[in-house]
Amino acid sequence: MSKPLLIALLAVAAAGGAYLVLAPAPGQHQNLEVLPQVGEALGQGMRQLGKGIGVECEHCHVKDEWASDAKPQKGLTRAFFRAVLAEPDAAKRKVAIDAWVAAIGAELQDEGLVWGAFAHWKAPSSR
Ligand code: HEC
Repeated sequence: MSKPLLIALLAVAAAGGAYLVLAPAPGQHQNLEVLPQVGEALGQGMRQLGKGIGVECEHCHVKDEWASDAKPQKGLTRAFFRAVLAEPDAAKRKVAIDAWVAAIGAELQDEGLVWGAFAHWKAPSSR
């Protein structure tokens, strides 16, 4: 294969790969940085999460703009997800949940509901 042709093919492959990463397939969520694509289960977990800390969706989301990152509560919640997803130690998880709830101006109602939300967000491959 000629060198220019090879380079052209690699460029097309790279562009195609970038497109796959940037453009979610139909029905997928647009702006997930931490949680996997789990379809409708995402919203089910969100409802449970909100209930566990006594807030509505709009505490973290701009109304009808789920993918928007405009509310700081959403970013703080992402940081919480990152901190606890790979944290098996119960005491550390408790510290993280208390700090997160305080940071976003909520109050813990039911800790079990919050941890239960993560069960909805398991990647299909790890179910
Ligand atoms: C305590 C904060 C919080 C609450 C309350 C909350 N969410 Fe979320 N939501 C998030 C975060 C953080 C993400 C992004 C997760 C990521 O980056 O992986 C997200 C992502 C989403 C997305 C994906 C949007 C996209 O296309 O990227 C949807 C849809 C969604 N939430 C719906 C809801 C619904 C419906 C409710 C209420 C029942 C709700 N959320 C309540 C924090 C919250």
